[in-house]
Amino acid sequence: MLVGWLSIACRLGSVVTGGTDGIGKSYAEELAKRGMKVVLISRSQDKLDQVSSEIKEKFKVETRTIAVDFASEDIYDKIETGLAGLEIGILVNNVGMSYEYPEHFLDIPDLDNMIKKMINVNILSVCKMTQLVLPGMIERSKGAILNISSASGSHPVPMLTIYSATKAFVDFFSRCLHEEYRSKGIFVQSVLPYFVATKLAKIRKPTLNTPSSETFVKSAIKTVGLQSRTNGYLIHAVMGLIISVLPSWLYFKFIIDMNKSTRARYLKKIKKN
Ligand SMILES: NC(=O)c1ccc[n+]([C@@H]2O[C@H](COP(=O)([O-])OP(=O)(O)OC[C@H]3O[C@@H](n4cnc5c(N)ncnc54)[C@H](OP(=O)(O)O)[C@@H]3O)[C@@H](O)[C@H]2O)c1
Repeated sequence: MLVGWLSIACRLGSVVTGGTDGIGKSYAEELAKRGMKVVLISRSQDKLDQVSSEIKEKFKVETRTIAVDFASEDIYDKIETGLAGLEIGILVNNVGMSYEYPEHFLDIPDLDNMIKKMINVNILSVCKMTQLVLPGMIERSKGAILNISSASGSHPVPMLTIYSATKAFVDFFSRCLHEEYRSKGIFVQSVLPYFVATKLAKIRKPTLNTPSSETFVKSAIKTVGLQSRTNGYLIHAVMGLIISVLPSWLYFKFIIDMNKSTRARYLKKIKKN
């Protein structure tokens, strides 16, 4: 199944939002490794140039870059122009932002701006990129859209409330879209990782349950065409099972205690510097 999906899509191109670091960069590399052209979209042109040359050199595939900030709403004409002429087989809606540190809703610094940015980056990007790319996939009766949600989209995470809720949107959006379009040859996947060692997670050192983005994506990409909803990584799936049988009071106590101590550590560090 996997071979089928990826081999057909490989003759086409791929687009990865937030493709210059972490999980997005690892998806871009895995797709390029399978011979796909890759379009990378993120904010910094310098990082885009660097990652796109690395991929071009290592995997001998064509690359394109589009520099935009998904926090803005008026970027989609520029993206459409940047994608012109490319037949897209795989879209990875990966770009996402989280909190600087866990916080109660009303105490989030610059709350107005944070609400807007989080919705634009985590939700609007997924809807608008899908709107741009899906018609071509339907015309060719083939395509995969991989939406990077989060385990916090399947279990609510207090003190990361807006993030967790945006990721629940991504999960529901993906599951509904999959049912709407699978008969037309489109595979939509909701990917729900727990912690992966990246800048966003503020975790540098990978461990068994916090894999590097490379390890995570090598595992997650094997589920394309097989699982429309996945944690992407066996140990994360086991963590999901354990959490789902905990009584909710115990789950929420654990999460809130963990997030309070993360906040305390962060604020202490900021005060010191
Ligand atoms: N890491 C985890 O533990 C974890 C767990 C569950 C889900 N996820 C999800 O996985 C996805 C990727 O996260 P990650 O941890 O790999 O993040 P990351 O390492 O911080 O990488 C983020 C990527 O997105 C780009 N980016 C960030 N903000 C952007 C913006 N406003 N506009 C355009 N591009 C932007 C960054 O490049 P520039 O800075 O140059 O723009 C970079 O290429 C996110 O949706 C996240 O919610 C992550």
